[in-house]
Amino acid sequence: MDSSDIFSSPVTWVVSVISLLYILLRYAMSTFNYFSDQGIPGPKPIPIFGNMWGTWKMNLPAYDLALVKKYGKVFGYFDGPIPNLWITDVEMIKAMYVKDFDHFIDRRSFQMRTKIIRKWLSVMKGQEWKDIRSSVTPAFTTGKIKRMSTLIKDCVDNLCDRVAILTENDGKIDAKMTFSAFTMDVIARCAFGLKLDTLGSKDDPFINNAKFVFNQSTNKTPAVLLPFMYPKLFSALGSFAERLFVTKQLKFFFKLLENVLKERSQSNEKFNDFIELADEAISEFTKEVDGKTVPMWTREAIDEIVMGQSTLFMLAGFDTTATTLTSTCFQLARNPDVQEKLFQSIVAKMKDYDEVSHEMVQDVPYLEMVIQEVLRFYPPLIRIERQCTKDYSYDNGRIKIKKDQIITVPTYALHHSEEYYPDPEKFDPERWSPENKANRSPYAYMAFGTGPRNCVGMRFAMEEMKMALCSLVQKFRFFPVEETPVKLQFDDGFVQILQPIHAVVGLEFR
Ligand code: HEM
Repeated sequence: MDSSDIFSSPVTWVVSVISLLYILLRYAMSTFNYFSDQGIPGPKPIPIFGNMWGTWKMNLPAYDLALVKKYGKVFGYFDGPIPNLWITDVEMIKAMYVKDFDHFIDRRSFQMRTKIIRKWLSVMKGQEWKDIRSSVTPAFTTGKIKRMSTLIKDCVDNLCDRVAILTENDGKIDAKMTFSAFTMDVIARCAFGLKLDTLGSKDDPFINNAKFVFNQSTNKTPAVLLPFMYPKLFSALGSFAERLFVTKQLKFFFKLLENVLKERSQSNEKFNDFIELADEAISEFTKEVDGKTVPMWTREAIDEIVMGQSTLFMLAGFDTTATTLTSTCFQLARNPDVQEKLFQSIVAKMKDYDEVSHEMVQDVPYLEMVIQEVLRFYPPLIRIERQCTKDYSYDNGRIKIKKDQIITVPTYALHHSEEYYPDPEKFDPERWSPENKANRSPYAYMAFGTGPRNCVGMRFAMEEMKMALCSLVQKFRFFPVEETPVKLQFDDGFVQILQPIHAVVGLEFR
């Protein structure tokens, strides 16, 4: 038998394929004793999928809650072969997300090469993330949010007009649809410098492309897990993998911003939107070179960073805010006493202010309490993770976390823990009174994350939601109708953000 006979022999092929599969299997299982060696409990993993088998067809909030109830406040989980420590222990959250943050700076992400996306704050790592985060943060100070509040107010007026028509015609609204249109209007105005006259229209290219970008259909297939289980393989696939993600619909938004920046470079007009405020903040960021203070970035780099943050503003701010407003209306409809108290608080404040404004919405403490309780009950981001960037040891070496390992706070499960929130399935804004808040660890609340890498858009989101709710609750009363579910339901699938379904509520004029 010569060498060519060996290669063409079916036996050789069968042996090679089996050997290869064996090596892959060994690799996929090589980490599975990582937690058991440390005495940390957790569900038993299976090859290739770790503990993620079937998660693409599950209801994640219920799944996470069941896991935490079964395995406790600290347990080990496997995303494919990657060890992932799940924690709902507030001291541990404080240590890893805040105190020892320099061990956990990054999120799990793949190296992005595409222009603009590579500057998204959410995917950047290490020092580059630190620099861009420090330069963008000043665009979200109270003063800057006040400047944007006029634009938000315009969108709130549009929302109220639209809700008034729906109240008159149908007496009810599909809350998710209504608030998605409103949130997109705010994003178009603030992050893209556009005025959408066609709120919710099927023909508007902005709306059409956004619908495609937010299409959730892949979240119900096993393919959605690949980047989570094998991020290095995903990165190695490089531009091919990125092409799946960077669609022509996403590129539509890049082009739109490029044109806006080009037009603005030739004009002295003031816009008071995020593009302008982010540009100001990022341009002011400096570095020291040979004892001299010089701008950190060139004009071209600033434009790319601004475009990155504006597109991210849409991705990070759309569903999160629309879902929270939807959940709030549902809870107000189901809890008429809370709605009445909120209405009375708003009406009382309207005596001191002419209209709903930046100053007015900051001056209604009960509104803040209601929103916080909604965000506790239904945190839109149900898991918040970090990637370990240098080896770490907790509690005198009782728990060891190696570089590249993932840690996760399952927010929904944390917020529904009996220990931190007695009677957790009760909707009760009083949990957020100053006295009750003072008696609870701040790390038991993670709706906007925590530590230096928390949500940079939190103040903006709160302003937008407060302005919308103040105006709506003043003019309309929400109530349950036949289609209103007893408990708000969320779509199944490996969703990153809770997707309310069947969120129909009745409406009447006050
Ligand atoms: C109700 C609305 C919102 C909620 C509940 C929310 C929640 C969150 C959470 C939980 C995180 C992860 C934090 C962490 O890892 O500790 C996050 C990150 C982020 N959010 Fe929000 N968010 C909301 C609205 C917005 C808005 C309107 C913007 C737009 C400006 C925004 C921009 C971002 C960005 C850029 C990040 C990544 C920050 C970084 O990596 O440095 N979010 N958000």
